[in-house]
Amino acid sequence: MSSVPDHLEESPAARRAGAILRIDLDALAENYRILAGQAAPGVDCAAVVKADAYGLGMDRVAPVLFTAGCRQFFVAHLDEGINLRALLPEAEIHVLGGLMPGLEHDFLAHRLSPTLNSLGEVETWAAEAGRQGHRLSADLHVDTGMRRLGLPPDELDRLAGEPERLAGIAVSFLISHLACSEVQDHGLNARQLADFRQARDRLPQAPASFANSSGVFLGPDYHFDLLRPGVALYGANPTPDRDNPMRPVVRLQSRIWQVRDAQPGETVGYGATFEVGRPTRIATVALGYGDGYPRTLSNQGQVFVAGQAAPIIGRISMDSTTIDVSGLAEDQVRPGTLVDVIGPGNPVDAVASAAGTVAYELLTRLGRRYHRAYTGG
Ligand SMILES: Cc1ncc(COP(=O)(O)O)c(C=O)c1O
Repeated sequence: MSSVPDHLEESPAARRAGAILRIDLDALAENYRILAGQAAPGVDCAAVVKADAYGLGMDRVAPVLFTAGCRQFFVAHLDEGINLRALLPEAEIHVLGGLMPGLEHDFLAHRLSPTLNSLGEVETWAAEAGRQGHRLSADLHVDTGMRRLGLPPDELDRLAGEPERLAGIAVSFLISHLACSEVQDHGLNARQLADFRQARDRLPQAPASFANSSGVFLGPDYHFDLLRPGVALYGANPTPDRDNPMRPVVRLQSRIWQVRDAQPGETVGYGATFEVGRPTRIATVALGYGDGYPRTLSNQGQVFVAGQAAPIIGRISMDSTTIDVSGLAEDQVRPGTLVDVIGPGNPVDAVASAAGTVAYELLTRLGRRYHRAYTGG
């Protein structure tokens, strides 16, 4: 069940909104403590807050994590790092996207650590250190299996053979990223771990960071010096084959706009993709794909009304979604009634899975029209 309360004091803005997104900052802080608690003493825990803290609002999320004890933050883009620096003057901020040519001074001006993803980036940062006349900190990313970012094996070989290339650089963390950590017994996990250990042995000594959310739960071999979780902080299940150890952070509720009856043979929505087979009561709910609610939930997903599942029937429109509320009493489905879209009975992972996607995408697409209500923190 969601820990996000049912009945917040409804502000006029909340009453006007088609949907209310409640974000529980106490649950977020608790999730940080749960993740940090997985590691042995001496192992630190970072927070990945890229993409506006996975859609939940970096300006609200990052300070709460800092108060919970987090000092290391990862973003993807330079501008995300600059925004975060304004929020957290004392945090260590790491930019995963790398060091694009000509942007060295932005990193320096905002005290951001670039993640060096190639030998070229190592060279650029070392040259900047030369100009500055002192060592500059950065993370060094080796690719152990994602084939996305980080030094590929041939560049790692060259760097291992010519470690003086790192002379001007204080490596904060040697990092790599797991491709399949949510599948506990996937063979690639152990292969990436072995390659990461080998890379570490071949390069000048530096602290290391390897585990994303699911990696945290692969055990201490994967922890090194710094855990690097993102999605689990926001309540998604990092152990999909087991119960979710995290607390729910997000609750999304939408209002019923209208209720109508449909008869057998009538169809519902664009494309007439749902044909009514028996007398059916339909409620039209005020959110749609224009709010980031996945259109792939058409005729697939469900919402919860007064604790009961109500299936989505017909196609999801831009601003609205139609649900079958035939099993509910009239007074449970009045215009204005809030239904649970993500929340009790319908956790973020289940909604994402019904939509054919992952919690990451569902969260980062949460719409801009929702009224946002933050609690706790
Ligand atoms: C390099 C890197 N580290 C850590 C993370 C956090 O991963 P997760 O959200 O699965 O915990 C990400 C997210 O994509 C990432 O790209």
